[in-house]
Amino acid sequence: MNKKTYYITTPIYYPSGKLHIGHSYTTVAADAMARYKRLQGYEVMFLTGTDEHGQKIQRIAAENNVTPKQYVDKIVDGIKSLWRLMDITYDKFIRTTDEEHIQAVQKIFKALYDKGDIYKSEYEGWYCTPCESFWTETQLVDGKCPDCGRAVEKTREESYFFKLSKYQDALIKLLEENPEFIQPTSRRNEMLNNFLRPGLEDLCVSRTSFNWGVPVTFDNKHVVYVWIDALSNYITALGYLSEKDENYRKFWPADVHLVGKEIVRFHTIIWPAMLMALDIPLPKQVFGHGWLVLEGGKMSKSKGNVVDPVVLVEKYGLDAIRYFLLREVPFGADGVFSNEALINRINSDLANDLGNLVSRTSAMIIKYFGGVLPEAREAGDFDNDLISVVSQAKAKTEELLDKLQFSTALTEIWKVVSRTNKYIDETMPWALAKDEAKKPRLAQVLYNLAESIRVVSILIQPFMPQTPAKIWSQLAIPQNQRDWSSAGTWGLYAPHAPVSQGEIIFPRIDIAKELEALAATSAPAASETSKDEGKKAAKQENAKAEAKAPEAKEAPEGIQLIGIEDFGKLDLRVVKVLTCERVEKSDKLLKLKVQLGNEERQVVSGIAQYYTPEEMVGKTLILVANLKPAKLRGIESQGMILAASDKESGKLVLVTVEAEIPTGTKVS
Ligand code: ME8
Ligand code: MG
Repeated sequence: MNKKTYYITTPIYYPSGKLHIGHSYTTVAADAMARYKRLQGYEVMFLTGTDEHGQKIQRIAAENNVTPKQYVDKIVDGIKSLWRLMDITYDKFIRTTDEEHIQAVQKIFKALYDKGDIYKSEYEGWYCTPCESFWTETQLVDGKCPDCGRAVEKTREESYFFKLSKYQDALIKLLEENPEFIQPTSRRNEMLNNFLRPGLEDLCVSRTSFNWGVPVTFDNKHVVYVWIDALSNYITALGYLSEKDENYRKFWPADVHLVGKEIVRFHTIIWPAMLMALDIPLPKQVFGHGWLVLEGGKMSKSKGNVVDPVVLVEKYGLDAIRYFLLREVPFGADGVFSNEALINRINSDLANDLGNLVSRTSAMIIKYFGGVLPEAREAGDFDNDLISVVSQAKAKTEELLDKLQFSTALTEIWKVVSRTNKYIDETMPWALAKDEAKKPRLAQVLYNLAESIRVVSILIQPFMPQTPAKIWSQLAIPQNQRDWSSAGTWGLYAPHAPVSQGEIIFPRIDIAKELEALAATSAPAASETSKDEGKKAAKQENAKAEAKAPEAKEAPEGIQLIGIEDFGKLDLRVVKVLTCERVEKSDKLLKLKVQLGNEERQVVSGIAQYYTPEEMVGKTLILVANLKPAKLRGIESQGMILAASDKESGKLVLVTVEAEIPTGTKVS
């Protein structure tokens, strides 16, 4: 008999820099689904990969003086090692530079051309390179890209076009007749009202102005538009139009494409239209999840350690990070990522609720029964309520996971954890232990605790790859009591060995200390391929964040709060005063020469009433190094020295560093 199959995909990522925790979000969610379906007995195909062509990559590579392929190879290695670190169990990793993919894209393009759905014409319009999106004049918002708010470039080229307009009615019908096709529903309405009903224009699907792409076989000065190339990955990865197409026949159509909300349009308009044109079945569902943002706006690669998944996993452990990503925000909605929220979750849900439950239970079984529960047990109060909550957990978890409701599924599982913790308070095992006659009842209570934990340990498997095995080993849960299906049956727990006290599975974190330590290490990561790339990316992301930033929170007493990215715009550096003199005809100004790493800067500062030139020489100070140069009394000042001053008392003191540190060091 053939197994049931399940095909799930993530978007393929642009290898344009290191990935941040927001990218891991989609992949962790897809991984949880893949694990869940495998546990249920499905034959799973979980696809992820990289989207390597296009103008943006070609540009970045050129800026780095390497070929596009050399550039992406390095980044793809990094992405793969990140997925290893995060225990992502993908079945296939596709790269759009794979030979099989390129050939299949060429065949797809040719097939659409032969059918008459692709035709040659001329393109005139606007192109947003970071989004790899074409826009017409009327689609622009304030002359900027309507998706990301960044500048667009005027483009005029001979181009091939895909007859997207031809599929407008079929697409409207698809969305109207299949409310499940786009999830959540709000995104479906957005597609219908903002794009489909106003009318579709044909889509420009080839470029001649650069060559890092899949060549059009019958007109090789053209390369295939990167989104046509990228979307095709979902079928080329299965061998579509190749000799080895068993996977295509087995897994297509996909059960679900997981995508971020900003690319729902590509997946629910362009992609289904392409598939209709190819005359092949459509995916069953496209799920558009929300964004994880930082308090001040969109996440970006330049924000350093706080969003670096490698740093986060090393600090807090993989399971804690995966739990947080899937628990904190309902899948579909936007959510704010903060280290504080992360640590609070770890402490409350993991260390306190689950971690304590496991360690208290194993400790009591060891203390009261030497690790081996006796056969003589006695049912009592509270048992039935506990058993009923635990017994329903599997069905509830499945119902929610089938709708990709990770957060509520975890909430259901944690109801079992809480109910079980409450059962300890209700039954008070320590009191039962004082009375020899109550030993059978004590044995029953501890058995019920262990059995509840067994069920929890099975149900958390899709989310947490490491914790279940730790629990199984502590409670000596045998292999045959760990099956997914066994989580639906109460009373299977029969340890194969004495219970042992293992390591603490989730240590508590001292939140104050941790936040302090994080603040100290959160300087922008020097992990970009080049500094320029980092700066450019940061600039773009800032522009993007400004365009999309959620309403700033109201600050108390009229103080304007800024986000960390606003602070990050300041380039504060340690400098040392080399020379200092008075500015002629001014009783306020001093002219300083300061050392800043290998550089010397001239700074004019209004501190002559507080410091003599002699006192200044040799002082270590803080300079705002990226302040626009300004002229004071005709003398150029290249930056500003920081000082604390109190207008009322007329006091002023310079800001300095607490211990010796080289000039040029960044202050953050
Ligand atoms: O869009 N929170 O690639 P990409 C949540 N190559 N999700 C986030 C996020 C955040 N802060 N930042 C990014 C592309 N993502 C195309 C896809 S598919 C045929 C081609 C998500 O690297 C984003 O929403 O820019 C998207 O789903 C995914 O990361 C890849 O983004
Ligand atoms: Mg993107």
